[in-house]
Amino acid sequence: MNVTVIGTGYVGLIAACCLANSGHQITGVEKNLTKLTMLQQRQSPIYEEGLVEILTKVIDNGSIKFTDDLALAISTTDLVIIAVGTPSLSDDRVDLSQIFAVAETITALATRPLTVVMKSTVPPGTGKMLIDRYFSQCSQEISYVSNPEFLREGRAVWDWYNTDRIIIGTHNQKAANQLNELYADLAAPKVHMDVTSAEMVKYASNAFLATKISFINEIANLCEYVGADIDAVAPAVGMDNRIGKQFLNAGLGYGGSCFPKDTKGLRFIASYYGYPFSVLKAVMEVNSAQKIRGMRKLLTALDNNLYNKRIALLGLSFKPGTDDTRESPGLDIAEMLISEGALVQACDPLALASAKTLLHSEQITFHEAPYQAVAGCQAIILATEWPEFTHLDWQKIKNSMQAPYVLLDGRNAIPKESIKNLGFHYLSFGRQTD
Ligand code: UDX
Repeated sequence: MNVTVIGTGYVGLIAACCLANSGHQITGVEKNLTKLTMLQQRQSPIYEEGLVEILTKVIDNGSIKFTDDLALAISTTDLVIIAVGTPSLSDDRVDLSQIFAVAETITALATRPLTVVMKSTVPPGTGKMLIDRYFSQCSQEISYVSNPEFLREGRAVWDWYNTDRIIIGTHNQKAANQLNELYADLAAPKVHMDVTSAEMVKYASNAFLATKISFINEIANLCEYVGADIDAVAPAVGMDNRIGKQFLNAGLGYGGSCFPKDTKGLRFIASYYGYPFSVLKAVMEVNSAQKIRGMRKLLTALDNNLYNKRIALLGLSFKPGTDDTRESPGLDIAEMLISEGALVQACDPLALASAKTLLHSEQITFHEAPYQAVAGCQAIILATEWPEFTHLDWQKIKNSMQAPYVLLDGRNAIPKESIKNLGFHYLSFGRQTD
């Protein structure tokens, strides 16, 4: 099929490359000229495992090209995938301005019948609104499909080929058949439903996963009070198939480009309809409080005073395997440490460049090597469980630190017994250490 993908961010670029890899003829539209030039030169603007290899292959075999000419791209296509950004506004509303601009352009420029596929995350009801406002006014017939993505950063290419389900939200049979053909090589079940329900599936999925994380964080906190061990509790709870073992890792809480934005967006939608989504509000509150709880643990271990104390911060990306620092707990911790007067020695395998543009203070230094970052520190905070950090030589680390050798394991990811035996003052979220 001839497919145009508008927007080459995480979702758009993975979709464009993987669809090209499946034999479709893809035109990727990118209006940012720096990004466009990179893509045309076979460089990926984002780090994603396996992506550059596919990008190079599909450019070389001619199944993908990139352009900023939306009009031309639309005039030669059967199917348009919208994958532009939908960031949060300051009042938690979802900013749909890029979606509206693209819908208006498609409506004005369509010269043949088109199927428009929405992959950007948009609030339930958006598809209906776009059809009413724009696509129904077009001189050409436009069929609309909501087709949300569930790709995880760092695992996006793998997730594309191993997705649990493909959601196809449309009542238009011709468009549904096109989507079945688009994804013919993917084994996942194709689940058909109406547009608004498909939009809701995306929000409900992300909100539920966020709920799982906040729930296990609360259980971990409670474990500390009653003397239970989250390392025993969480896996055993997850063995119940109705619950599932994933997303039960307690720690500093969730970050990233999706969970914070989508939980805020869903809370706004609920409040817009006058519905108090109490569980969701609690999930968000717990998530914010986890970082403060971590800081409180650190402060208590350092006599309630961080002024002029050297603290190593291991991890600035919001999770391992990505250079993305959006809503990263590590960045929030860095800002809290700086405001407490600490001298922060930060380290991350991929996110240093991004963090440097966001953290401006003479109190923070950035380091490539973890052994360099920990030198002279009284405490270490592990904010992201990169394997580069969880497999360190902790004896060597301790030798280069200063007393009282505090280690706040913000991801419960470090082997706790060996750490304690080395004489660290080990802090975690709900792990028994005695
Ligand atoms: C998420 C969803 O998983 C994906 O399906 C969706 O489409 C986009 O949002 P992503 O944001 O890439 O993907 O990361 P994910 O792996 O889900 O982790 C999100 C955050 O939750 C990270 O900060 C991670 O550290 C945290 N997390 C995850 C926990 O704190 N505990 C867990 O058990 C799991």
